Amino acid sequence: MTDSTRRFPAGFLWGAATAAYQIEGAAAEDGRAPSIWDTYSRTPGRVRDGDTGDVATDHYHRWREDVAAVADLGLDAYRFSISWPRVLPGGHSNPRGWDFYSRLVDALLERGVKPVATLYHWDLPQDEEDRGGWPARDTAHRFAEYAEQAGRVLGDRVHTWTTLNEPWCTAFLGYGSGVHAPGRADPAAALAAAHHLNLGHGLALRALRGVVRSPARYSVTLNVHHFRGDPEAVRKADGVANRVFLGPMLDGAYPADVLADTAAVTDWSFVRDGDLADVAQPLDVLGVNYYNPTRVRMWRGDGAPANGHGHAVAAASPFVGCDDVEFPAPSGPLTAMGWPIDASGLEELLVRLHRDHPGVPLTVTENGAAFPDEPGPDGEVHDADRIAYLHDHIDAVARAAVRGVDVRGYFAWSLLDNFEWAHGYSKRFGLIRVDYPTGRRTWKDSARWYRDTIRRTRAPRDASAG
Ligand code: FCB
Repeated sequence: MTDSTRRFPAGFLWGAATAAYQIEGAAAEDGRAPSIWDTYSRTPGRVRDGDTGDVATDHYHRWREDVAAVADLGLDAYRFSISWPRVLPGGHSNPRGWDFYSRLVDALLERGVKPVATLYHWDLPQDEEDRGGWPARDTAHRFAEYAEQAGRVLGDRVHTWTTLNEPWCTAFLGYGSGVHAPGRADPAAALAAAHHLNLGHGLALRALRGVVRSPARYSVTLNVHHFRGDPEAVRKADGVANRVFLGPMLDGAYPADVLADTAAVTDWSFVRDGDLADVAQPLDVLGVNYYNPTRVRMWRGDGAPANGHGHAVAAASPFVGCDDVEFPAPSGPLTAMGWPIDASGLEELLVRLHRDHPGVPLTVTENGAAFPDEPGPDGEVHDADRIAYLHDHIDAVARAAVRGVDVRGYFAWSLLDNFEWAHGYSKRFGLIRVDYPTGRRTWKDSARWYRDTIRRTRAPRDASAG
């Protein structure tokens, strides 16, 4: 498809995304308390090269420059996350923390950019983890209290609220395989965490709706995995990766096959009467993060099943209850993360979600790729591989829209190179390069390409639409 033949619905939002711990730095400034990622990144052997988010891209000090870049890119919307330990250190409201996000939101609105705020992008306050973390039910209640505060402070200005980013990673990488903070490897705890994330999501939405008076949209972002392979292997992996969240959030029930597949791990007694009604709050939009499809097959008994996930080689599998499912190493072109490049998966995924949940509008809240891009002799980053990746995935979104999927927006991951979790600063996903020693930002070719694509693709009748 060329830019001129692509069709996006009127009001389609073009954006870019970031997350607090990955960009802000200022880890001990203005009263911020430690998060589980501060602790995890300080634990030897957890994060590559011992990198931490102490400074990251220094966005906490350079936010004005970053907002200017968002505006210069011509973005309709900017997706960022709020750091819970910055705004509620020790459980107490921290005005200096809230002021940071208040100024950020104001600056976005001044430039005509819609603020899309995520409440939880993985940086749990360390003291919440010390009290039990997501496997403990109280965390869901404290998350809802935090959401209510956020609604009171920013509710007059935020365009879209997102409760959680990728709760699968929080539950199953954080508590199942341990390759993310807090680094626990306990499958029963991972399932309890999944339930309390679901509960926290529902309670937070209800709390937000209770205090926000301005019109706003309410959402959650899932990294819905797109599995391909034996139907039985797909069913099992899809259960504990996707339907364990989609079921309760959208249909108000855990799928029977997920309960059966995990029965040897837990009896699910942490699900109390009334929880599922609390979880299944109405959603205005479902955020979908997509990077690559995942191949699966049933283990045929020849050697140990390969467990793992593109993020890292895990000693324990994050796919709880899937011990007889193999995840063969991907083939074909790969990104610097070792993730396969295959845009057709995004089209198929959007079509599947629309088919399974026809009334739920979708937004691609993250999509992008890491490549080993370095400045050339001219000082510029000529990242043709990233441009090709983004081009093909935007095409996939357009094809899904043509097939009738109600898709409302596309957010590139990421605005800036940043701290890529256990990979530290070794993987660069940014449209804009960050030179970490100096903090200097340089637009990559992909940033200019994205700006021009948005300009050309935006329907003229949209130009003045709000
Ligand atoms: C997603 C995360 C995001 C970033 C990208 C590459 O899983 O939401 O923070 O790390 O992957």
